[in-house]
Amino acid sequence: MEVISKATELQERIKGWKQKGLTVGFVPTMGYLHEGHLSLVRGARKSNDKTAVSIFVNPKQFGPAEDYNVYPRDFNRDAALLEKEGVDLIFYPGVEEMYPAGYKTYVEVEDLENKLCGRSRPGHFRGVCTVVLKLFNLIQPDEAYFGWKDAQQVIILKKMVEDLNLPVKIRPMPLIREEDGLALSSRNIYLNQQERQAALVLYRSLLLAEKMIKNGEREAARIREQMVNLISAEPLARIDYVEIVDLQTLEPLATIEGDALVAVAVYFGRTRLIDNLRFISGVVEK
Ligand code: PAJ
Repeated sequence: MEVISKATELQERIKGWKQKGLTVGFVPTMGYLHEGHLSLVRGARKSNDKTAVSIFVNPKQFGPAEDYNVYPRDFNRDAALLEKEGVDLIFYPGVEEMYPAGYKTYVEVEDLENKLCGRSRPGHFRGVCTVVLKLFNLIQPDEAYFGWKDAQQVIILKKMVEDLNLPVKIRPMPLIREEDGLALSSRNIYLNQQERQAALVLYRSLLLAEKMIKNGEREAARIREQMVNLISAEPLARIDYVEIVDLQTLEPLATIEGDALVAVAVYFGRTRLIDNLRFISGVVEK
């Protein structure tokens, strides 16, 4: 496994692979890897000749009051995990390598970027799209793997790829949870013991929605109300949003008919956690 920090060196290596006709699977990450990330790596490895992973805590997707400076980082641990998974290349650039002085260019996906997480994190998806497009240009992957943990990110990046005619296939992968249901996240490390316990309410609220939908409920407002009641009963939880939206447009749904995304974002102390379930014709997708 090779670790490359310079864009020009990365481009040389990729050129070599392409000349040999090898396919490249790519997994972009911000590091501090867990089983959720590794499931993407395994997916990429299975379907491609070469697997590249990027580790870059992207300052452009963090708001000024957000956790960029304290975001957990442990490169040596990440590299050991990726080596064990049989990854061929880690791209590990510094901030100046990705955004040299005078950097000016940004990518926006209108409308979609201002909903759900984008509403509470202005500029977040502009930062995500910009860095992912740069990484796609450098790595030229045949396939790029993303987790449904960040459903809005998947939907926005698919749109970017479609709109900009990018020659890459977005491969979304299932959301991986702890045994007790908490979605794996690098940010779970911020939680104290009480908050960790309280955070289970996220998945419980989604299971409540699933049960209501299974029992025939189709009124989004009624499902939403029950979810809000459940989460509000947890004293350590502060709701950012609880939403039931169309899986393509992310517009709020009045009734659940086609493909729906039930998504929650909740603060536990200073830590903001997200979770979601997708419903295809009223049946949950795991
Ligand atoms: P990061 O939060 O490190 O996540 C990297 C990838 O791992 C994303 O596609 C995310 O959806 C996926 N992932 C995280 N937790 C997961 C889980 N529990 N189950 C399945 N997949 C999971 O997302 C980002 O980084 C950044 O926005 C990035 C795309 C790298 C751009 O900077």
